[in-house]
This record gives sequence, structure tokens and C-alpha cells, in this order.
Amino acid sequence: MCVDNNQKKIDTLLAGDIPIYEPGLEEIVTKNVASGNLQFTTNTEVGVDHGEIIFIAVPTPPQPDGSVDLSFIEKVAREIAAVLKPGQYRVVVDKSTVPVKTGEKVTDTINRYADKGVEFDVVSNPEFLREGCAVADLMEPDRIVIGANSDRAMALMQKLYEPFVAPVLVTDINSAELIKHAANSFLALKISYINAVSQICEASGADVEKVAEGIGMDKRIGRHFLNAGLGYGGSCFPKDLAAFVAIADQIGVPFTLLKEVMNINENQLERFVDNIREKLWVLKEKKISVWGLSFKPDTDDVRESVAIKLLEKIVSEGAEVSVFDPKGTDKALEFFPDLMSKVKVCATPEEAAAGTEALIIATEWPEFAGADFAKVKESMLTPVIFDGRNLLDPAKMTEQGFDYRGIGRGVDLEKVETAS
Ligand code: UDX
Repeated sequence: MCVDNNQKKIDTLLAGDIPIYEPGLEEIVTKNVASGNLQFTTNTEVGVDHGEIIFIAVPTPPQPDGSVDLSFIEKVAREIAAVLKPGQYRVVVDKSTVPVKTGEKVTDTINRYADKGVEFDVVSNPEFLREGCAVADLMEPDRIVIGANSDRAMALMQKLYEPFVAPVLVTDINSAELIKHAANSFLALKISYINAVSQICEASGADVEKVAEGIGMDKRIGRHFLNAGLGYGGSCFPKDLAAFVAIADQIGVPFTLLKEVMNINENQLERFVDNIREKLWVLKEKKISVWGLSFKPDTDDVRESVAIKLLEKIVSEGAEVSVFDPKGTDKALEFFPDLMSKVKVCATPEEAAAGTEALIIATEWPEFAGADFAKVKESMLTPVIFDGRNLLDPAKMTEQGFDYRGIGRGVDLEKVETAS
């Protein structure tokens, strides 16, 4: 039983429409709505009566200073408290990403607003799924983290997750809450680390892809999340890092390392645009195509997308831009109408590239690698590619006659060929 206070969203879901693009989700929802396994309501009491376990999965957006806005969590805690009934034990699980010690506050809030004698426990069960492969990440997680301070609640949670083949880590609530922020921050740190290395590669004539491969072969490091590029975006990493920094500041243990991770991330886009300016000089009136709007492939999510930030920069400098994205265009038009009104939206990558002086790859959609590059080269005014995600093979692109510029790929191909 899913509860949401937005009637429109519930109506959309009941009609079988999924408001986001997430591979595999629509089939699961349609199947389970049809069988009656999945229901939707706007009535909190119906939800609380229905479920022994109640997941809170509301947004925890950032505030201007980076700290987390917990007002939705607090409101839902009050709403649950108002309809809890004595003799009806409930486990209230926090699924949203929240600062450490939020569980204590949710417990206090429910105690304050509920009738005397209600029985409940609060649990932290952070989610680690990635957009674009959320279904697979849910069904086959690396781990399930359950933070509870009560055996009764823990037993129920373990029963819930029994069918999943995944290690279950049992902790206290505070540790579970911290695991989520610490995990996302560590992943962002890996990305900023390789991006910082990419800058050294670029300046010294090395190839960051080879360096990432070489260091990633060390099992202690691993190859995952060592893809250099325009930096991380999306609705999680930027928000979670800012939140973790704010939490650390608040409890008096400043996490300066993470501040540098954020600086490197911002700097990465600046450097990329500097490289474009270095080649094209003034961007005003330059015809440029951008492939990719979503913050990563396999999603239509454009929130905090580096591709959108890049577009904002070059459009503000007067470039004449044509764009293509396989899935993200509708969301970009919805969330950035002003920006999108200043660019030409195209139906194919080839159409976007035609007649331009440079092509920028901002999101590594796999289909971009399979584009018709002979046609692209033919139709461009000058065949220059700025590959912000190192999607393409520099040697092949150079062979096809492109002036190819990736991230951290400072190798002089002619010299390498002579050497081999
Ligand atoms: C992330 C976490 O991975 C997930 O565990 C958590 O639950 C939510 O936040 P998500 O935001 O969906 O998931 O995307 P992810 O695949 O982690 O990528 C985040 C950003 O990092 C993207 O902008 C991506 O392009 C960038 N990235 C990722 C890199 O720049 N390099 C990499 O090597 C990996």
C-alpha cells in the first residue's frame, strides 16, 4: 500500500503511468496493480492500518547552506503518529537519506503526537539503488543495512528481507544513517580523485583511461567509479556531500576532505569549458551541438545534471546550440524551459551535429558510440569533438578525421604510433 499526499500522482499510477523513466519499473507496477498486490492511496490511516512495517520515503532536499530540509520527514512522522492505534505494533522505517540522529528525532516526534500506549519502533534502512538500474539494485543488492535499537523491530525487518540473497548488516540506528552519507561521499571522492588525476594526465601526456585501468586492477582500489569525466551530478551525490559536510560541521568535526572533493567536481566542468574556449576562442555565435542532457545514461533525470550546467554556460556565452538526448528532453523542457527555449532540440544525434563547429558529448549514452560518425563528420562545419565522458576511442576518432579531445587524454597519438 503506497501512500502519497499528491492525488494527481496517485491517479497517474493507478492509470498505469510511471512518472519517471526507470528500466523495468513499468512492467513490475502494471503486473502488481493488476494482481492486487500493489495499491495506492492518499489516506495515511489506510496505509498505517495496512502495514506492520511503514517505510518513510519522502524527499530530504538540500537547504541553501547545504544542510538537509527534514520538514517532510517531520510532517510524515506527525501524520503517522496521529493514526497509530494502541495494540497495533508498527515499525516505522526511515528509507530517505537523513542526517545521523534523525531516527531519535522521529521517535521523539511520534511519542509526542501519538496516543498514549501505542507501540512502535523506528528503524533506519538506507537505500543504495542507482537510477537507471534501480530494479536490479533492489532485487540483488550488495548489502542490506538495517539499523534498529529493538530486537522486535529487527526480527520483523529480517523476516521482510529473508527472500533476498544478500548480506544483511545489522547495526544501531545512528550507524545505519551514517553509512548512507559515508558511502555516497566515498564514491564521489573516488570520482573526484580520478578527475584530479585526469588533469595531471592531460598536462603531462598520459592517458587517464589507462591509469584508471592500472590502479583499478588493484583489488583494494577496484575499477568502479574511476571514470573520469565532467564530474558527478544527479539528485544524490551533490546533495549528500553538502549534507555530510554540514552534518560534520554541526557536530564540530569539519570534514575538509569532502570540501575539496566538491571543489574538484566544480573545477572539472570549468576546465572542460576552458578547453572548448581554447580551441574555439569566443563562443558567441559558435554553432555547437551537445549530445546528452540527463545526468547519466539510462535515466531521464536531469536534476543537477552536469550536461545542463554545461549547456547553461555555453548558451550564456552566446553559443548557438543544438541538443539531443534519448530520454531526457521532456524533463529538460519541463524543468529548464527558459534554457531549452534558447537551444534547438533535435530528433537524432546526427541531426544535432549537422552544421556545427564542435560536438560535445555530455552524457555517455551507449547509442552515441554507435552514431554514424562518417555522416557526422561530413555534415559538420569543422569536425571537432569534445568528449566529456571519454565515451569514444581517440585513435578511431582521429583516424576518421576528427579533432578529438577527451578528458585526461594527453597522449600524443602520433608519438605512440611511432613508438609501437
Ligand atoms: C548514487 C549511488 O550510486 C547510489 O548508491 C545511491 O543510492 C544514490 O546515489 P545515482 O545518483 O543514481 O546513484 O548515480 P551513480 O551511478 O552513482 O552516478 C552519480 C554521478 O556520478 C553521475 O553523474 C555519473 O555520471 C557520475 N560518475 C559515476 C562519474 O562521473 N564517474 C564514475 O566513475 C561513476
